[in-house]
Amino acid sequence: QKHLLGIKNLTEKDIELIYETAKTFKDVINRPIKKVPSLRDITIANVFFENSTRTRLSFELAEKRLSADVVNFSSSNSSVKKGETLLDTVNNILAMKVDMVVMRHSSPGAPHFLSKHIDANIVNAGDGTHEHPTQALLDTFSILEKHGTLQGVKVAIIGDILHSRVAISNIFALKKMGAEVMVCGPNTLLPKYISSLGVKVELDVMKALHWCDVANVLRIQLERQQIKYFPSLREYSLYYGINRRMLDQLDKEITIMHPGPINRGVELNSDVADSDHAIILDQVENGVAVRMSVLYLLAGLHN
Ligand code: CP
Repeated sequence: QKHLLGIKNLTEKDIELIYETAKTFKDVINRPIKKVPSLRDITIANVFFENSTRTRLSFELAEKRLSADVVNFSSSNSSVKKGETLLDTVNNILAMKVDMVVMRHSSPGAPHFLSKHIDANIVNAGDGTHEHPTQALLDTFSILEKHGTLQGVKVAIIGDILHSRVAISNIFALKKMGAEVMVCGPNTLLPKYISSLGVKVELDVMKALHWCDVANVLRIQLERQQIKYFPSLREYSLYYGINRRMLDQLDKEITIMHPGPINRGVELNSDVADSDHAIILDQVENGVAVRMSVLYLLAGLHN
């Protein structure tokens, strides 16, 4: 494939190849010499129209570990502020002989639009409420690493599903790889179409925790809420916030995940986020290897 725009159009085989390649790169980045020359002749632009800590740094590190040349663009201090369009912005970056574009944008479909107008490879680093494919790949890779398989693993995605590109990409990836998926949250934060994706729906967080092997906990995305949704953050934390006392009531150990950033004391208490149950920083570590894998495979150097 030329682009990674979403998980929806990937096959199980595509995802397995990404995992296998990521395993090799994870070994590389744990060596004293963390770099390989694979993308030595490739220039990559990280074009971010929305804030990011993990995804932007993780892509930049992945690119540098692969020996690519890297330029970073952030819309907040760019000529976008003077009225330049997305297409003009990217075409100007490409005129400087850039081969691949990693893009985050608040509009769903922005990378798909670009892919129809430019020649470079495009990697979607999150487009509005639509998809965040590399997050889903690193999340599922982390579950595979922890549980040894994805087949039959019960994953509950808990939180603001309505505004979450992480939830949608995870559902696609988990279902393709044979996991069972449940979404859990207040009715107001669950999209009407969600059960059509083949997932269980649960409103009671304790029931979801009892059911699952893995809980992937999401934050409330206030920045995407056009109107004020029920519940408020305080109400959400009261009814859905996960704390150690809740995990102690379960008859098994479950794995806790979070894509970050965590709103501590809202969706997740520190006594869970920092506990042995949590693999949150393993997800971040795996993000670099998975993104190396995606960039390497898109560059077509494996054939
Ligand atoms: N998980 C994630 O996308 O985090 P950032 O917004 O910090 O990149």
